[in-house]
Amino acid sequence: MTSSKHKQDQPRIVLGVAGGIAAYKAVEVLRRLRDADCFVSPILTPDATRFVGEVTFSALASEPARTKLYGDPTTPIPHTYLGQNADLIVVAPATAHVIARYAMGLSDDLLTATLLASRAPVLLCPAMHTEMWEQPSVQENLATLRRRGVMVVEPEEGPLAGGDSGKGRLPDPEVIAALVLSIVRGESGGLLAGRSVVVTAGGTREAIDPVRVITNRSSGKQGHALAEVAARLGAAVTLITAAPLALAPDVARQIIRVNVDSAAQMAEAVDRVAPEADVVIMAAAVADFTVEAQDAKIKKEQGVPSISLVPTRDILASLGQHRRSGQVIVGFAAETDDVLANAEAKLTRKGCDLLVVNDVSAEGVGFDHSTNEVTILTPGAEPYVVAMTTKEQVAYEVLSKVAERIHGGTNG
Ligand code: CTP
Repeated sequence: MTSSKHKQDQPRIVLGVAGGIAAYKAVEVLRRLRDADCFVSPILTPDATRFVGEVTFSALASEPARTKLYGDPTTPIPHTYLGQNADLIVVAPATAHVIARYAMGLSDDLLTATLLASRAPVLLCPAMHTEMWEQPSVQENLATLRRRGVMVVEPEEGPLAGGDSGKGRLPDPEVIAALVLSIVRGESGGLLAGRSVVVTAGGTREAIDPVRVITNRSSGKQGHALAEVAARLGAAVTLITAAPLALAPDVARQIIRVNVDSAAQMAEAVDRVAPEADVVIMAAAVADFTVEAQDAKIKKEQGVPSISLVPTRDILASLGQHRRSGQVIVGFAAETDDVLANAEAKLTRKGCDLLVVNDVSAEGVGFDHSTNEVTILTPGAEPYVVAMTTKEQVAYEVLSKVAERIHGGTNG
């Protein structure tokens, strides 16, 4: 049985293990983290011990594995000791049951009590059968947790217990261990830690005269969700927005907000901040045409006015042209017909790395809804479909793809 003293510079990691067959892989995650000189404290749920005994974890860990909230010989309140000292809590495997209890805020065992008694970043690694993974309840609980800033590693497709095959497999231990190490050794602990992200949002308003405007149906919700989720993932975020929406209180103070009205103001704000940004996400519905505005209110007596429109600058296309090496540029496309073909053409035309496509004619998609369904296009890769879900979840999926590009070095 090991029990070592914590050294000052060692990252402290709580490794939560829930009751699933993939619990055996958690042993290897533990060993890799110990090899990388982390101080690891395992917590096993009672069901986890049916799959792998606590002795195995205790033998490899920095201190004996714990399984119970009560009767700990070393401390009367193990959940606060573990939760307050942790630099990261990783749960691998995270079962549907543990995910549900965490999303609900239940704390009736040592693992869930520790999750609640901690301000440390949390990384969940779900593993379960495909049918369970696809349940709306599981997906909604994960969406809730992601919205609160919890990081979730998508399970992989492959062989599952009982001879089945499908999505739900825990990624290999080296992948999980590498992710944990990148988080604890990164600057602020998220997938986008230390990165600067610029997001635009909302529909611009083009003045006809001092009273009237031409605008569009964009609510700005998707752009605001992107800014909020990027902040929760550790990025330094600038939100350039034409939408009168409040930001979520947990991240409002972390986001630099620039309010704009017209396409020209948005272009000017983007020009100011984009050159320094690692990622620019153009979620705004920028007017393609603006009006040669009148200084005075147009009066009815003057007859039916004729309004002349002039094209605006395509901000996304100029970002694509002037990008600096390593910068990731993300565009959005709202389409109503020939959705994928139009979007593929737009991806090339605008020179972006990712294009997030909405079919805005579909039910529950796009403007002013709280839900969205999108396809993410990347040059040379298969389209990636994000089925109908919350705009926060769409934001998380888009930002995960952005993080993949950054960490995978595809934009180097
Ligand atoms: N966009 C932009 N500047 C503009 C117009 C659009 O940066 N003046 C950006 C949007 O923010 C979005 C992307 O371009 O990320 C796609 O916008 P969309 O209106 O779908 O494409 P358009 O090029 O305007 O093509 P069309 O309207 O003909 O489909």
